[in-house]
Amino acid sequence: MSDYSIRLYKDSDYQVARDLFAEGLVEHTNIAFKHALRQPQICLPVMAVLTLPALNLVSITMAVLLVTVAVVALWFCSRYMYTSYINYCLSDDMLDIRKYYLQRDGYCFWVAESTGGEVMGTVAALPSTQPGGEKHLELKRLSVAPEHRGKGIAKVLCRTLIDFGRKRGCEAVVLSTTVPQINATRLYEKLGFRQTQTFPHLGLLGKFLDFRFLVYQYDIPAA
Ligand SMILES: CC(C)(COP(=O)(O)OP(=O)(O)OC[C@H]1O[C@@H](n2cnc3c(N)ncnc32)[C@H](O)[C@@H]1OP(=O)(O)O)[C@@H](O)C(=O)NCCC(=O)NCCS
Repeated sequence: MSDYSIRLYKDSDYQVARDLFAEGLVEHTNIAFKHALRQPQICLPVMAVLTLPALNLVSITMAVLLVTVAVVALWFCSRYMYTSYINYCLSDDMLDIRKYYLQRDGYCFWVAESTGGEVMGTVAALPSTQPGGEKHLELKRLSVAPEHRGKGIAKVLCRTLIDFGRKRGCEAVVLSTTVPQINATRLYEKLGFRQTQTFPHLGLLGKFLDFRFLVYQYDIPAA
C-alpha cells in the first residue's frame, strides 16, 4: 500500500507548490551548462583563447582568466534560461494557483501528499492552446521533491491527469520539456508518450546555448 495519496490543491499548499516548481527546474542548470559548453560556437573560441599563450599573444594567466570569466558567465546564462521562465510563471499561472487552475473548466492542479501531510509532488492540467489541439490537455508543473523521487509518485500524478483528460473526452495529453530534463523525458517515454517535435529557444541567448524544447504527446486510448 502506498504511503501517499493524490488530492486537489489547497491554499495551504501554495508555498510548497511554488518552491517545488522553481527548484525542480533550476536544478537542471548544470546539465544545460555542460550541454552548452560542448557546442562548437562555445568550445572552439574557448580552445582558441587557450592557444593564445603558445603564440605569445597573451600570458597564460590572462588566457586562464579570460576562459574562467567566460565559463562562469556561461553557467549564469544557463541558469538564467530557467530562472527567467520560473520568474515569469511565478507571476503568471503560479501566482494565484487556486484561481488559475481550480476555478476554470478544463483546468486542474493536484498534489501528492504523504500520510504525514507533507506535499511531495505536484502536477497541473490545462486545455492546450496549440492550433489543432482543441481536444488536447496540457500537462504542466510536474515536480517531485528530490527526497521522494524514484517511488513512482510522478507516474501516479501523470496517470491522474491522463484519467482527468479521458473523463473530459480529450484525445491526447501534450507537454513540452527541455533537453536537460532527462529524468522527465525517461518518465514520459515510460508512460507511453512519444516525442512529436523539437524546437530551439526563440531568443538569441537560447539559440547560442542550444537550449532546446521537446514536445511529447500521449494519445489517450478510446474507452
Ligand atoms: C521527472 C520527475 C518528476 C520524476 O519524478 P519521480 O517521482 O522520481 O518519478 P517516478 O518514480 O514516478 O519514475 C517514473 C519513471 O520515470 C523514469 N525515471 C524517473 N527518474 C529517473 C532517473 N533518475 N533515472 C532513470 N529513469 C528515471 C523511470 O522510467 C521511472 O520508471 P521505473 O522506476 O519504473 O523505471 C522528477 O525527477 C522531478 O521532479 N524532476 C524535476 C522537475 C522536472 O523536470 N519536471 C518535469 C517538468 S516537464
